[in-house]
Amino acid sequence: MDCEFSERSLIMVPGPTNVPERVSKAMMKPMISHRGPEFRALYKGIIENLRYLFQTEGEVFVLTASGTGGVECAVSNLVNPGDKVLIPVFGLFSERMKEKIVRRGGSPLEIKLEYGEAPTADQIEQRLELEEDVKIIAIVYNETSTGVTVRDLPEIGKIAKERGLLLLVDAVSILGGDTLPVDEWNVDVCVAGSQKCLACPPGLSLISVSERAWKWIERTKRPFYYDLLTMRSFQDRWETPFTPAIPLFYALDEALKMIREEGLEKRFERHRVCSEAFYEAIEALGLEVFPKKEARSNTVIAFKRPTSVDGLEVRRLMRERYKVVIAGGAGKVRDLIFRIGCMGTISAPEVITTVSALEKALADMGYPVKDGASVEAAKRLLS
Ligand SMILES: Cc1ncc(COP(=O)(O)O)c(C=O)c1O
Repeated sequence: MDCEFSERSLIMVPGPTNVPERVSKAMMKPMISHRGPEFRALYKGIIENLRYLFQTEGEVFVLTASGTGGVECAVSNLVNPGDKVLIPVFGLFSERMKEKIVRRGGSPLEIKLEYGEAPTADQIEQRLELEEDVKIIAIVYNETSTGVTVRDLPEIGKIAKERGLLLLVDAVSILGGDTLPVDEWNVDVCVAGSQKCLACPPGLSLISVSERAWKWIERTKRPFYYDLLTMRSFQDRWETPFTPAIPLFYALDEALKMIREEGLEKRFERHRVCSEAFYEAIEALGLEVFPKKEARSNTVIAFKRPTSVDGLEVRRLMRERYKVVIAGGAGKVRDLIFRIGCMGTISAPEVITTVSALEKALADMGYPVKDGASVEAAKRLLS
């Protein structure tokens, strides 16, 4: 094929990510009826493996929708007009979550932070002391726009439980890449996306619901398409209420089998080591990591663009000359940072190729780099 996409690039944006061939091939299986025995067997297997992934005894659902649809489903099943929802806002995706609450007629109580910071359990506790009748804490566990992970999430879960509040977590860009035992951490509703740390194509979102959450959901004026109670009644017979994206379900099934074969602990450790290698390499290039050390994500690597170089040009060179695609910033920090996805199939070759492409592109643009320093720094960790 003779076109600009003829050579395969390494996709290192924070989702979609590179998909293993096993997962891609699964999508080519013949079509089946979503009301027949083959689909029921497929869906049952997926749900069992999802329970393992979310580390939950609760219910889990697969939605034919991108991550935004999953978060919208969660918000629409929990928030009634006038409900008070405590929400830290520290990036584009927490802004969006707040907007969803507003559109449901909910009343967001915002804890506004600088981009690059993570909310703490103390900040949540202090704000709750000042408010009455709060119903939900809504939080983005991994702010993809800034590369920040909320390391206090277990403590925030304890606070929610002690005060009888629901905890809603957007884990779209982290579930499968870092630890998140939803039952142990008292997370009531948790949303993930297929195209991030699961190494599956985009188009599905996954949502877990705790036993406690159902009582609230029953009292919510729910939408028609995203009604979790309808989904639960269909799931009793291993079906979905509406036509699911069957090829994507095949892909998800395969991706989840690969996760089980690897095991969660090994998978999280692989992401952690690769992220450390990225951070070391970035610092060896003289660049500044965007979030503070304690808030750095293991799945989204965000670092500042050197002011002397044009960010679009760096990314164009990486893409066209070195066949590695990374992302710029999103939202308020669009032009200030670069972001790399450290997700799914991530391992030493992907890290080294990406770091090397970044170093070369910067050198091509006249930015002073010590030849090979970043790759050496990454290799030290990866070995
Ligand atoms: C934290 C977070 N929430 C929600 C979304 C929205 O997901 P999607 O683009 O799949 O709708 C994303 C996408 O990057 C995300 O990173």
